[in-house]
Amino acid sequence: MASSSSFHWCVLFVYAILVNVPTTCYGDHDHHVALFVFGDSLFDPGNNNYINTTARANFWPYGETFFKYPTGRSSDGRLITDFIAEYAKLPLIPPYKQPGNHHFINGANFASGGAGALVETNQGLVIDLKTQLRYFKHVERLLRQQLGDKEAKKLLSRAVYLFSIGNNDYVSPFLSNSSFFQSYSREEYVEMVNGNLTAVIKVIIQT
Ligand SMILES: *[C@@H]1O[C@H](CO)[C@@H](O)[C@H](O)[C@H]1NC(C)=O
Ligand SMILES: *[C@@H]1O[C@H](CO)[C@@H](O)[C@H](O)[C@H]1NC(C)=O
Ligand SMILES: *[C@@H]1O[C@H](CO)[C@@H](O)[C@H](O)[C@H]1NC(C)=O
Repeated sequence: MASSSSFHWCVLFVYAILVNVPTTCYGDHDHHVALFVFGDSLFDPGNNNYINTTARANFWPYGETFFKYPTGRSSDGRLITDFIAEYAKLPLIPPYKQPGNHHFINGANFASGGAGALVETNQGLVIDLKTQLRYFKHVERLLRQQLGDKEAKKLLSRAVYLFSIGNNDYVSPFLSNSSFFQSYSREEYVEMVNGNLTAVIKVIIQT
């Protein structure tokens, strides 16, 4: 008797796995929430590993407590965005720049260590916010191709968008001596930082 009842449990278990397969492949459109991440080193999961820059965190002991190797995150473990993905029952969102990363159903992470809201901040060393937005628009086009306009729009409008940006516009060691920084008053400069961030958020809202 005991063996026959465990056989039934086994069949039920296999059945549950089979019916759940489509869910993990974006079958459950109505409850799927993707995560899109923009920003600087607080959120960069390794995008800077794929650009020509010295602003990288790809060496020991970065990564030592969780991944056991330096992933490019400026942390010994996971980033806030990783924990949010975990709590949302999403896989960790890989760097947009990672070669072979074409799967954006769960979202995308464009963050780049050192980036600011202004193109001039750490220019040449980072993926600036404007470029991150351009990458997002590329992902939008790919999702439209993969899912169709209606489903892509649904995914993008239900998605969560996280930003960590603005810090480097004020603390970059290259700023204090740059003629760009010095040619604005403090008020003008803050307005410019806020203006550029606002412009990006507006484009995303209109997407
Ligand atoms: C990478 O950047 C350095 C410093 O700016 C430059 O000298 C080098 O030519 C660049 N390499 C490539 C492959 O672009
Ligand atoms: C900025 O300029 C000052 C004075 O000319 C100099 O002492 C300092 O080292 C410079 N800082 C940087 C980051 O270049
Ligand atoms: C955005 O920043 C640039 C400098 O990178 C500045 O010229 C422009 O006025 C800013 N835009 C807004 C809307 O503030």
